Amino acid sequence: METNKGVIFDLDGVIVDTAKFHFLAWRKLANDLGFDFTKEQNEQLKGVSREDSLKKILDWGELELSKTEFKRQMALKNENYLSYVAKMDEDEILPGVQEVIDYLIENNVPFALGSASKNARNILKKINLLDKFDAIVDGTDVSKAKPDPEVFLIAAEALNIKPENSIVFEDSVAGVQAANNANMISIGIGEQKTLGEANYVFTDFTEIDIEFIKKLLTK
Ligand code: G6P
Ligand code: MG
Repeated sequence: METNKGVIFDLDGVIVDTAKFHFLAWRKLANDLGFDFTKEQNEQLKGVSREDSLKKILDWGELELSKTEFKRQMALKNENYLSYVAKMDEDEILPGVQEVIDYLIENNVPFALGSASKNARNILKKINLLDKFDAIVDGTDVSKAKPDPEVFLIAAEALNIKPENSIVFEDSVAGVQAANNANMISIGIGEQKTLGEANYVFTDFTEIDIEFIKKLLTK
């Protein structure tokens, strides 16, 4: 296929449903500290770095922690989160994702990962996708969190694709905003009412027709 376009995938909530593991682990942390938060509040944590997530959660619980305790809680959360990740294998790849990845590979369309997670490589390895990406940009490579466009701009540059020719799959509000801020084509994976700012929204990858991808790539 003749295309000057490239694709950037977010990881958590797009390729795998680790968003549910993040939620469980953050909720346990909040509960252990004596409060709770809702699924709606959790939407605000998606795409947000580990540190910023804990800051938000502590705000909700109206708690302040010392620097040391803050670090300890972040480590505990990650430990708990990783206990879920440890059980993952390629069956955890969300329905329809593999088909899109295979299509991109068959058609020589470059694609990258653009995630805020510091666990991204570990997870990709577990689901056998680590070697498939042309570039991986994760939480260890960026200094500015989504909705800042940094992560996607670095990914597009690594693919040698112009921002306006980059197609981003995202499940978070912050991530859709980051893609829009980068002047990229944003595709929200989730609910229209949450991700309405995206150029296109699909409930999940099984809703995405390969013809739609083909049209976007050859436009
Ligand atoms: C993704 C998730 C967030 C998570 C962040 C950092 O963006 O959507 O929920 O907080 O990555 O992940 P990490 O694995 O480094 O804690
Ligand atoms: Mg996500």
